[in-house]
Amino acid sequence: MSFQIMGTGKAHPQFSLTNDQLSTIVDTNDEWISSRSGIKSRFIATTETGLELAAAAASHALDNAGMAAADLDLIICATLQGDNVTPSLACMVQQEIGAHCPAFDLNAACTGFVYALDAAAAYLDSGRAEKVLVVACEIMSKQLDWSHRSTCVLFGDGAGAVVLQKGDGLLASVLTAQGDKDLALLVPGFNNNNPFSQWPSRPTTLSMDGRKVFKFAVGAMAKDVKKVLAQAGLTPAQVKMVIPHQANIRIIQSAAKLLGFSEEQTAVGIDHYGNTSSASIPLVLDDLWRQGKIQRGDIIVLSAFGGGFTTGACVIKL
Ligand code: ACO
Repeated sequence: MSFQIMGTGKAHPQFSLTNDQLSTIVDTNDEWISSRSGIKSRFIATTETGLELAAAAASHALDNAGMAAADLDLIICATLQGDNVTPSLACMVQQEIGAHCPAFDLNAACTGFVYALDAAAAYLDSGRAEKVLVVACEIMSKQLDWSHRSTCVLFGDGAGAVVLQKGDGLLASVLTAQGDKDLALLVPGFNNNNPFSQWPSRPTTLSMDGRKVFKFAVGAMAKDVKKVLAQAGLTPAQVKMVIPHQANIRIIQSAAKLLGFSEEQTAVGIDHYGNTSSASIPLVLDDLWRQGKIQRGDIIVLSAFGGGFTTGACVIKL
């Protein structure tokens, strides 16, 4: 089935914001943030653009794969929103790295990377592409109200990428979407000055019902991962690492416990990245790959949940 991961890459801003520094901006403290979320610091873009991070992660992944941008047949960029609504971030990355292929953005919130892998698999399976770049990039710091302590402490900025080639490494994949009529996770985006508008103006920044998201996340991850493991005919003991979406250490630990994964099998990057939405899985994937903690032939499981509500999981043989 469909693909082999040929290379991975990542990029993040220079500036690392600690919990102590945050406590000078909003009424919070390291103890609250660490114990509730597992986050100690996060990278925040000061001058960096989404394009710079996404293109750097993409180039890093191409180098790692030993491929040139001109070899690519498709670029899919998972993002809530690039630097602009249009041109898409994927098109800007295409030009920046010197590729000549079609390129589009895909928004499945924090599940975006897993959705993008599944979309890439469909192109590779159908023979419409042989080499695909998937890059996930989020500047979450732009989506936040920095006076709102219950959200601004949780997120960070970054990008991660993989280069895929036709192969048989994708052993199972599941995606779901179920709507979120109560808008438990919402980023409304911009208001404008339309003189004819009778819509009430509303905040533009991220809001969420943290407890509702928490409950949904643990159940959804456990269900999806059980499903893909069953599809692949594998048990948790045969998995080298599970790389969950990095939203909260307590969500990660609860889901891992329900599924029977040990601490050693469960990848954690939230302590220094925060929640980087769709970029969280490929950032950690690149770290594990380059540190030699996962190697060719290993089985890994990716699992994510996000706004929508969307969820997705897959099993990959590296
Ligand atoms: N510092 C100090 N106190 C705070 C802070 C803060 N930064 N934020 C909130 N508090 C206070 C609240 O005001 C509240 O005080 P009160 O009891 O006096 O009213 C108290 O802490 C408890 O707040 P809760 O929101 O109930 O805390 P909870 O234990 O639920 O933890 C959290 C909040 C961390 C957001 C948790 O619910 C969570 O992680 N939920 C999942 C969130 C998530 O996964 N989001 C992902 C978003 S996008 C995505 O990745 C899909």
